[in-house]
Amino acid sequence: MSDLFSQAQSAVEFIRSQTTTQPTLGIILGSGLGNFASQVENPIAIPYANIPNFPISTVSGHSGQLVLGTIAGVPVAVMQGRVHAYEGYSISQVSFPTRVLGLLGCKTLIVTNAAGGIRADIPQGSLVAISDHINLTGTNAALGPNEPRFALSPGSGERFFDMTTAYSPALRALAVAEAQRQGFTLTEGVYLAVLGPSFETPAEIRAFRILGADLVGMSTVHEVIVARHMGLQILGLSLVTNMAAGVTGEAIHHEEVMEIGRRVERQFTSLLTALIPQLGANS
Ligand code: HPA
Repeated sequence: MSDLFSQAQSAVEFIRSQTTTQPTLGIILGSGLGNFASQVENPIAIPYANIPNFPISTVSGHSGQLVLGTIAGVPVAVMQGRVHAYEGYSISQVSFPTRVLGLLGCKTLIVTNAAGGIRADIPQGSLVAISDHINLTGTNAALGPNEPRFALSPGSGERFFDMTTAYSPALRALAVAEAQRQGFTLTEGVYLAVLGPSFETPAEIRAFRILGADLVGMSTVHEVIVARHMGLQILGLSLVTNMAAGVTGEAIHHEEVMEIGRRVERQFTSLLTALIPQLGANS
């Protein structure tokens, strides 16, 4: 089998054969947030199943296509759905689409997800800007031989790479300011990633709170690690779809995750649509 870089290049060549859009901004839409892809103008939608080496999502609520076009004049590549390690995919498959977004020319990545809220003062339905993460999945997406050809900006592509500002403080500040202009508060929080697919136990959530986590989820960190390896700028946004286990004492259901996504859709869409030209200018 060919190496990861060649596999990513095959995917890029195929995508380029389908569209003239040269995206500078990549967006990964999490559970319940996939409808944002309808904001793309002059869209070309490519099912993941058609893209060489792309993993295909098995979870309801993740539709599984890459949409290329523009939003507010910025050329974008929007992933409508992602795959997770709990589906049985290897960590390099989970992070593969992010590698492809980088090689397509994206300098900035917006990663979004549904998350459980650990802090009582961040209620269900809140949008949160991720300030940092704690990776408790037990694995790392940069495992394996280092591939310097993934260096997409000066100083990136190293074996050991910095995660101090993985979630760009500058992009986060833009998002917080834009939310304020739109009349709501975008809280900042630390995202803790678990493998899933079981939701957590109340004891785990108590432990995660002590560790410094504000949000818990089953995605994002692997994408952020490889995006950081390639030198991309990252903005992470979580939608608190439910309070984490034991916070209210109520059971957690996947349907709730989807329903809250639909309810917050308008706020999410107007924040992102206003932000994209600002981020585009930043890249
Ligand atoms: N835990 C883990 N992942 C999640 C949750 C949760 O409570 N809600 C949405 N994704």
